[in-house]
Amino acid sequence: MAEGMTKKDGYDFVVVANRLAVNRVTEEDGSTGWQRSPGGLVTALAPLMAASDGAWVGWHGAPDETLEPFDHEDMHLVPVPLSAQEVEDYYEGFSNGTLWPLYHDVIARPDFHRHWFEAYRRVNRRFAENAAAVAAHGSVVWVQDYQLQLVPAMLRELRPDVKIGFFNHIPFPPPGLFAQLPWRHSVLRGLLGADLIGFQRGSDATNFQRAVHNRLGYYVDEDRIHVPTETRAHDEGSPLAGFDADADRGTAARQEAAPDTGSARMVEAKSFPISIDTETITELAQREDIIARAAEIRRELGSPETVLLGVDRLDYTKGIRHRMKAFEELLQEKKLTVGEACLVQVASPSREGVESYQLLKEEIEQTVGRVNGEFDTMGHTAIRYLHHSYPMEEMVALYLAADVMLVTALRDGMNLVAKEYVAARQGDDGVLVLSEFTGAADELRQALLINPHDIDELKAAIVKAVKMDSEDARGRMEVLRRQVVSHNVKRWAREFLDHLEEL
Ligand code: G6P
Repeated sequence: MAEGMTKKDGYDFVVVANRLAVNRVTEEDGSTGWQRSPGGLVTALAPLMAASDGAWVGWHGAPDETLEPFDHEDMHLVPVPLSAQEVEDYYEGFSNGTLWPLYHDVIARPDFHRHWFEAYRRVNRRFAENAAAVAAHGSVVWVQDYQLQLVPAMLRELRPDVKIGFFNHIPFPPPGLFAQLPWRHSVLRGLLGADLIGFQRGSDATNFQRAVHNRLGYYVDEDRIHVPTETRAHDEGSPLAGFDADADRGTAARQEAAPDTGSARMVEAKSFPISIDTETITELAQREDIIARAAEIRRELGSPETVLLGVDRLDYTKGIRHRMKAFEELLQEKKLTVGEACLVQVASPSREGVESYQLLKEEIEQTVGRVNGEFDTMGHTAIRYLHHSYPMEEMVALYLAADVMLVTALRDGMNLVAKEYVAARQGDDGVLVLSEFTGAADELRQALLINPHDIDELKAAIVKAVKMDSEDARGRMEVLRRQVVSHNVKRWAREFLDHLEEL
């Protein structure tokens, strides 16, 4: 049992995620404490943790620091240490230099390094061991996201008594792209250690099922995958053989047309589109101080007729360059003018140790400089670029201040910003321009759906959004809001966990 554990037999509900559910904060007197992370996942799971003896296993964000487990607001937190070298190889390297670009349509080039994968495997094992140490007999363990794809099988090996769920927050790539990964079999086998594997879109679940069928030859019956439990000569040894360094090499896929006659474990892979904490956003959007702040933001921008807004982590998957190019061309062609329209771009700092992110930052900053240099006037700016993170209060004020929200991601698992904007628009006004390459586009059909690679289409959608009559905008936003409000993140978590319990 892990040190610092306060429960006798362990915890009934364990979440395993790369990041812990709390952030370290420095108080006014210089002492440090912990604060619950503001994200939707934590908001959705915290009440479940409180209700059912929950523990959260995750990295606390600082390299070379080992912390004892501790309790915070009805949650038991188990910090997993990472050395500075592991941050480089597991987090910046394999997670965000290999998997992230590979799973996002190779928008940036994925790098494949054997020592990165070695670190990924080692760190995944550490997460699995920590989860195994705190999980009560027969408990539910829910593993989150692409950083931890080997954890389900490792945990099953350590703790065959627990129910294991996995949710992939990012896209799962088409089999042709996934096939590039030298450790593709290890990753598939790692995931198949779960009882239920959740994806954002139906197409992600299908991509995964096809990869499993093509690469491992397992029989797939709709959402159910038959994972053989017996060792067979042609199956590279045990179900965990993929974790051996060489097991991925030279494996011929077996093609099976019918279920294997040997014993098999059923694993289900299907979509559970994630959502946001709509209650909190709705409450914030009704607060008078936040409504007043929205008006103040518009005044601070020089009271333009139209405020266009982009809110993203500064990531090459988000299509920020495409958005700026479209806006720049509209200004050049005088289809929009500054004063009439202002683009506010919030780009929160992200993964600054990874080279592709550093290059993107330089490029965006150059573009903003060029566009503003050409089009700004004394009283107005073309692009107000903010390289910061803001508290949710300020974000909701921005959503309220924005007439048009631009979500132009080239590939995105879901895109929660699109849903947050919709949830904040209490007056059922405002227009959402939404890339069809986001998971959100499957649900938010009344948005102006665009292909962000098609700059002319994007420009036309921006003009249409700016000029849209209020009746049309209201009709669309009403339907969008109904969809988002009725599918909040709590419902997402409940549906996933109920399904896992039923299996
Ligand atoms: C995406 C991923 C998350 C990740 C987040 C922030 O939403 O799906 O797993 O936590 O980005 O990225 P970071 O690398 O800062 O954790």
